[in-house]
Amino acid sequence: MTPDAVVFDLDGVITDTAHLHFLAWRAVAQEIGITFDENFNEQLKGISRMDSLQRILQHGGKAGAFSDKQRLALAGKKNDLYVRSLASLTQASLLPGIREVLAEIRAAKVKIGLASVSLNAPGIVQALGVHKAFDFCADASRIACSKPDPEIFLAACAGLKVRPESAIGIEDAAAGVEAINAAGMLSVGIGSGLEQAGLQLHSTRELTWKCLSDFWASRPVLIRN
Ligand code: BG6
Ligand code: MG
Repeated sequence: MTPDAVVFDLDGVITDTAHLHFLAWRAVAQEIGITFDENFNEQLKGISRMDSLQRILQHGGKAGAFSDKQRLALAGKKNDLYVRSLASLTQASLLPGIREVLAEIRAAKVKIGLASVSLNAPGIVQALGVHKAFDFCADASRIACSKPDPEIFLAACAGLKVRPESAIGIEDAAAGVEAINAAGMLSVGIGSGLEQAGLQLHSTRELTWKCLSDFWASRPVLIRN
């Protein structure tokens, strides 16, 4: 027995853009006198652009210091920097094992989805040359709540026409794992500090179809179809 679908997060799972988000936010934050490190940045993973800005302002004690217009300008500046850094993305920017696991899942005739709250996701999957690997990519512009809300994962499952309980979700962020679990899917966490994930892996190198199908086979009897 296999899952009906595997749904991937993008930033930090398919490619290492999580670090590029960090660099762009750090530069914008510095301009307004706020500093933060990669540790704090963990809290921004999976969080939408405007929500990320709000968390950064709060972190710097400046939550009420900017008007809506100024906040939009700051978010726009971050996005310009981020998009500029994406120019370096090529097919070689896929994280280790991702190309192989996408091919293996396809060969097993299991559907593949994307659940990223990034408005830049369509351009990134094109640049990586993996746009055809996905049967459905949830549209971040139609999502009201970013992770840890399950909305984007539920939208991906709906677009793939699979029940969430029949699907696996893969994430590198704590908020993302929480979203997968809240959607009623089985969760795989890549990286450290993801204790809430049903399966924790150190790196995408370990992400093989064998690993995913063994995990599926070992899920608790109570949630079997
Ligand atoms: C998520 C990232 O995938 O997308 C977040 O983990 C980011 O860090 C969010 O803020 C929104 O991305 P974008 O490209 O729309 O600003
Ligand atoms: Mg991510």
